[in-house]
Amino acid sequence: VKFGVLGTGMVGAAVGGKLASLGHEVTLGSRDPIGKAAVFPSLRVGTAQDAAAFGEIVVNALPGEQSLLILRGCDLAGKIVIDIGNYDSAVDQPIITPLGQAIQALQPKARVVKTLNSVSAHLMVDPQRLQGHHSVFIASDDAEAKQVVKGILVEFGWKDIVDLGGQAAFRAMEQLIPLWMALESTLGSTHFSHAVVQDGLSPKG
Ligand SMILES: NC(=O)c1ccc[n+]([C@@H]2O[C@H](COP(=O)([O-])OP(=O)(O)OC[C@H]3O[C@@H](n4cnc5c(N)ncnc54)[C@H](OP(=O)(O)O)[C@@H]3O)[C@@H](O)[C@H]2O)c1
Repeated sequence: VKFGVLGTGMVGAAVGGKLASLGHEVTLGSRDPIGKAAVFPSLRVGTAQDAAAFGEIVVNALPGEQSLLILRGCDLAGKIVIDIGNYDSAVDQPIITPLGQAIQALQPKARVVKTLNSVSAHLMVDPQRLQGHHSVFIASDDAEAKQVVKGILVEFGWKDIVDLGGQAAFRAMEQLIPLWMALESTLGSTHFSHAVVQDGLSPKG
């Protein structure tokens, strides 16, 4: 599959590198394609517009506020957009419109799927590095696109993929960020994740 990965930071590098290692074709989107080509010699690097045009699937690995500006200039009609982003402001301010919903409103013909936004970059693409059970959330109004993205999560090694339904769940997913930041501060590490634990019994059972 052809992927355009927007952003060359921790998330873009991890996801782009993993996708390429799995045999997918990847173009990273950067503000500095020439400079970043030297940093990622095994990957194609272009502008965000180049990467979006290249990808059958486009990954948003940009800072949230910037991603709205950058995605505005990309043609995403008909493409699956995997939104991993969070607003920087979500750390300590209320979310007015969740980022994933804002991207969907900006690009009504894009097929936005939100996932991985509350997982540390190194664990996104290698969940087994954290021993024990942990979970990744996913949501989208587009059931078929969500299924495709679940397949990619399985390729990454995810076993517990918790489907939260449609884009109404984007808010809950993005509101995990203050908790994630508090845990990072308390634990002094990014090597942790969230787990959903059930025992199979209903409350009335
Ligand atoms: N880091 C994590 O563990 C993690 C986990 C879950 C979700 N996220 C979310 O994933 C997204 C990316 O996170 P990240 O940690 O990879 O961020 P990052 O290391 O800061 O990288 C973001 C990349 O976006 C590009 N960019 C474009 N415009 C920018 C601007 N105005 N300011 C800064 N960068 C700009 C840059 O690539 P170029 O210089 O090549 O343009 C930069 O490398 C964010 O929305 C974040 O909330 C991160």
